[in-house]
Amino acid sequence: MSDQAEVELEARLEEQESFEPPASFVEQANVHDEGIRERFDEEWPECWTEAADLLTWDEPYEDVLDESDAPFYEWFTGGRLNASANCLDRHVEDGRKNQAAIKWEGELGETRTYTYGDLLNEVEAFAASLRELGVEEDDVVTLYLPMIPELPIAMLACARIGAPHSVVFAGFSADALATRMTAAESEYLVTCDGYYRRGDALNHKEKADKGLRGVEGDVETVVVDRLGDELNHFLGQHAHDYGDLVDEHEGTTVEPVSRDAEDMLFLMYTSGTTGEPKGVKHTTGGYLAYTAWTSRAVLDVEPEDTYWCAADIGWITGHSYIVYGPLALGTTTMMYEGTPDYPERDRLWELIEKNRVDIFYTAPTAIRSFMKWGTEYPERYDLSSLRLLGTVGEPINPRAWKWYYKHIGGESCPIVDTWWQTETGGMMVTTLPGVDTMKPGSAGPPLPGVDATVVDTGGEPVEAGEAGYLTVQKPWPGMLRTLYRNDERFLDEYWREYSDPDADEWVYFPEDGAKLDEDGYITVLGRVDDVINVSGHRLGTMEIESAIVGVSGVAEAAVVGGTHDVKGEAVYTYVILEDGQDPTESMRERVIEGVEDAIGPIARPEEVIFTPELPKTRSGKIMRRLLEDIASGAELGDTSTLRNPEVVEDIQAQVTED
Ligand code: WTA
Repeated sequence: MSDQAEVELEARLEEQESFEPPASFVEQANVHDEGIRERFDEEWPECWTEAADLLTWDEPYEDVLDESDAPFYEWFTGGRLNASANCLDRHVEDGRKNQAAIKWEGELGETRTYTYGDLLNEVEAFAASLRELGVEEDDVVTLYLPMIPELPIAMLACARIGAPHSVVFAGFSADALATRMTAAESEYLVTCDGYYRRGDALNHKEKADKGLRGVEGDVETVVVDRLGDELNHFLGQHAHDYGDLVDEHEGTTVEPVSRDAEDMLFLMYTSGTTGEPKGVKHTTGGYLAYTAWTSRAVLDVEPEDTYWCAADIGWITGHSYIVYGPLALGTTTMMYEGTPDYPERDRLWELIEKNRVDIFYTAPTAIRSFMKWGTEYPERYDLSSLRLLGTVGEPINPRAWKWYYKHIGGESCPIVDTWWQTETGGMMVTTLPGVDTMKPGSAGPPLPGVDATVVDTGGEPVEAGEAGYLTVQKPWPGMLRTLYRNDERFLDEYWREYSDPDADEWVYFPEDGAKLDEDGYITVLGRVDDVINVSGHRLGTMEIESAIVGVSGVAEAAVVGGTHDVKGEAVYTYVILEDGQDPTESMRERVIEGVEDAIGPIARPEEVIFTPELPKTRSGKIMRRLLEDIASGAELGDTSTLRNPEVVEDIQAQVTED
């Protein structure tokens, strides 16, 4: 293309506010029925049998939805099924034993492909191993593993024997592992010796061992040997080698345990308003039906596809859209161990070309990095195999959307901007790629059967053009059932704000702000609680604060998110030291270390700002909004209502200095 034509195209793209899905896409789309939302509304909740029908049930369910103990809703009650049988056995029985189920690429370029037959064999062997170690139905097994195939294998092995898994993101610290294992009373851990990051072998086992020292009682531990001789593969007490176990049980048949639809499939700890992570409980029938249905309807996954969600399985996106949804549909799901810029910034595009990837799903923060690196990297590769693109995790700015559309999708792939949460299990607000017009920056209308409504502070729906709070006014199959062993907190966190318990009217509040437009599209504005979103990772500011006040010499701390070009938000920490302590460089390092030890490098502060005082209102409340504005370099509003307006300038000067 000539430079001139290129410039004109850019200008046209920049102005274009809406995009139609390409006709070639629509023709082949899994869902192209324009009346689907109306139909789901009319048939609700029976519409969700469409999702349940994607699964194979051992016993049919009696009711689609049981609302008798709302908001403790139950879905597909009376039904029985096994998630691993749905993800593996039925595809093998369908004659697809030799189709690739997982295609894995290590950071150093090693590859492994597991067919559905291979995957089933290894899942059975590991399921038998877990049983031998004493794991029984309903025992929680913690999986502290990076992006290696043994992670989904262990998840499916747990599912096979009815043992809920609790995956702890490998980037989380030893302390974070210990907190989660203790909260779940988990007596089993699967981890590994180490893994690669930017070519370096990281010692993961050391972190796991440190975490285990913070857990009471004996924990049976299985260690995957990822690095071979790179690191000393020292097992220690109560530890077993994954490879030995699997070899020993090779060929063992493990019948999938028939689980009640409402039996727990897994727990996932996530950040909330208070310091303690919340154990989000997902069950077998509703979750699997919902992830399968949304994978099919929104990501347009077909069994013949090579599908790649470039998230980490340690977060909900990976659970729902690398493992359960895609495998339930019998597609080929890709996994990549490393970072997108190792050894070069073209790694992802190289993988797409090499594997002829059809569908690619990633986070806006990644797209903003790709933009920054420049178009020369994707331009080196043939990306024409792509049919659909997706984003998740945070709002996407229209510029990044358009860049993705043009430079990755070649202007011929629809983009789905999917809003959802750990708690929702699967996607909630997004366009249907074969049905809806796309509007960059706006996630889209609610999915069929999902009653997502933007309301004002009084709970009334807002008018078109107005902003308010996102709510979900009807239950959906993928929803969390409760917070593990904490029904009270479940009610408090999600249902108190807008529900009317006396009238038995229950409204779910996800803690996001949102705006409604004329066409009923929802633009998600971000969290309205103390959760921040750093590179698509959900972090609790309270958790970070408590880590900082745990550092000796620190008296008080406030943590906020400041806007960041690539990360979306970055961690800004305002720290008050105890009398007699100096704001030295080593103090700054200790604060950073304190956060990394308590949570992990993902929560590493962008800035540590020492201040003698925090800006407070006359009633003594910390003015967080002001701290956010300072961190974001935004114009500050009226500070005259502060008890101590003079501290603002001091703090501001420090931030701009850096
Ligand atoms: C944010 C990740 C805008 C939101 C699946 C939500 C988004 C939180 C989007 C959940 C999106 C997720 N547009 N914001 N498309 N997707 N979010 O639990 O604030 O890690 O509440 O689940 O991410 O984060 P979580």
